Amino acid sequence: MAHTSALNEVIELDDHFMQDPHSVYAGLNAKGPLHQVKIPPGVPVCGGLTVWLITGYEEVRSALSDTRLSTDLRRTEELFARNQPDSTKRGGFSSTIANHMLHNDPPNHTRLRKLVNKAFTSRAVERLAPQIKTVSHELLDTLPEDETVDLLDLFAFPLTFRIICALLGVPEEDQEDFKEWSKQLISGGSPEVAAAASATMHDYLTRLVAHKRSEPADDVLSALVEARDADDRLEENELISMAFLLIIGAHETTANTVSNGTLHLMTNLDQWNALLADRGLLPGAIDEFLRLESPLKHATFRCVTEPVTIGDTELPVGSFVLISLAAANRHTDRFEGDTQTLDITRSTKGHVAFGHGIHYCLGAPLARLETEIAFTALLDRYPGMRLAADPADLRWRTSTLIRGLYELPILLKPA
Ligand code: HEM
Repeated sequence: MAHTSALNEVIELDDHFMQDPHSVYAGLNAKGPLHQVKIPPGVPVCGGLTVWLITGYEEVRSALSDTRLSTDLRRTEELFARNQPDSTKRGGFSSTIANHMLHNDPPNHTRLRKLVNKAFTSRAVERLAPQIKTVSHELLDTLPEDETVDLLDLFAFPLTFRIICALLGVPEEDQEDFKEWSKQLISGGSPEVAAAASATMHDYLTRLVAHKRSEPADDVLSALVEARDADDRLEENELISMAFLLIIGAHETTANTVSNGTLHLMTNLDQWNALLADRGLLPGAIDEFLRLESPLKHATFRCVTEPVTIGDTELPVGSFVLISLAAANRHTDRFEGDTQTLDITRSTKGHVAFGHGIHYCLGAPLARLETEIAFTALLDRYPGMRLAADPADLRWRTSTLIRGLYELPILLKPA
């Protein structure tokens, strides 16, 4: 596509967008691959900003691997500071905790990712399978079968949280506190609450890293403390922000994949029944959930460091870009048939729910494993489960990043 939308038109990412981003993206994509959007004032950290939005499939993919688009934290912070000079009103992450590999460009990104790859091995992930299964069943054992339950809050969230904590080695007795801080940080609403949670997490992780250093255990955080590449190793603040990224990156995204997938299956029971009849369809179904309802609507902010042309528009140096994974994943240039509906047998090859390029999700194998085990447990135990609400009444979270429901009411064993 060679054209862009009417660029003098600025679309507000308002509640209508939060509730139904897909119709907004479809409208935008009919006009072109590049747009300008305004983030509503209430959104922590970036509220009030007007930024570029890329929605075209090819443009999204090439932007994700374009080295002229930086994720460097220092640039993003500069933008946020320009937008909201009073840092106490800005909220969000403290820069020490957020200075992790996703917020770094090469060569630092390459260095950090290489060190983490040494600790975050596929063996460490595969070893978790029995534990994921046990935790899934333990959580389901606690749920009443004949009353409506919130499957997101009582199953998907605790499952993914307990697993990433187990992988890293966060002691069980601290997990409740940690979960609360991460909730306040991501969806606490006020910038002050988010900033306080970020500081508390930083202190906690500092103590945890010190503990792993003095008493190493068989977990990924201890392995990260030990990880070396020739003379290189992770410094204290790099370990802390790495642990933070892994916990935050792993938990919300995977929980929403389970929840979003369940919602789409409950509203397409023929496909739920197809999975009941043939579990071999599950891996393909999981990629279809990721394509259709990508848990991250957008990648992290990119900053233009050299002029980049999208369609026929040159993005100036210093401008900020949102790259829409969700819009690309329903784009008719790439995917066949009705891209707006669930089809667990379609080819999802090339979906960008895990990103693309150097920042491609490090946790994709773990996310797939967890989601597959979670759905297997649900299919085995509750073949008759049903959505206990009118889908039109469900509310989606107000977040420029995350695509997830506030709650998912389910009846596990309808009368
Ligand atoms: C279904 C669940 C998940 C989804 C949809 C997802 C999505 C993504 C996306 C889109 C990116 C790239 C963001 C960008 O380019 O701005 C990313 C990066 C990352 N994800 Fe995930 N993620 C998931 C689960 C996980 C899990 C389970 C972990 C950890 C165990 C994890 C750890 C990371 C890390 C460390 C990065 C940064 C990689 C880098 O900068 O090189 N993610 N993820």
